[in-house]
Amino acid sequence: MPLTNKEKTLIEDNLNAEYLCIRKYEQYSAMASDQKIKQVFTDLASKEHQHAQTLKNMLSSNGENTYNMFESYVKPQGDLSNMQPNLGITDAQLLNDALSTEKHVSGSYNTAVLESVDPQIRKQLQHIQQEEQGHAETLFKEMQSRGWYNPS
Ligand SMILES: [Fe+2]
Ligand SMILES: [Fe+2]
Repeated sequence: MPLTNKEKTLIEDNLNAEYLCIRKYEQYSAMASDQKIKQVFTDLASKEHQHAQTLKNMLSSNGENTYNMFESYVKPQGDLSNMQPNLGITDAQLLNDALSTEKHVSGSYNTAVLESVDPQIRKQLQHIQQEEQGHAETLFKEMQSRGWYNPS
């Protein structure tokens, strides 16, 4: 079944968000001080790579061009946590920003799911959305365990 214009646009929007997530999490992994938090960001980046690939396949199997200016970039190398004091960045801020990103992305997938006509596309998007909620939960737990997130 060919993609509707709406499906195509929403998949492209989400693909753009995935590319931004990949860059952000690879950069945050380099910038974080705590080894566990570095690992969390590395793991999330690899999950977002899988999401991007799934979306790319949806578009390319429909003959759509998948060019996106944020797809390729120079990945940060090594530990850059020594930049934190000069930039005023903390691990808590990195986690909080990532959590906020995941909340946004999850909402964006929710819209894409609800606008899907093709049941296969809908199923794949639902699966990704569920994983985004899992990412938010992982980030939330990292914050909560350090006393950086205390919903009352
Ligand atoms: Fe994702
Ligand atoms: Fe995510």
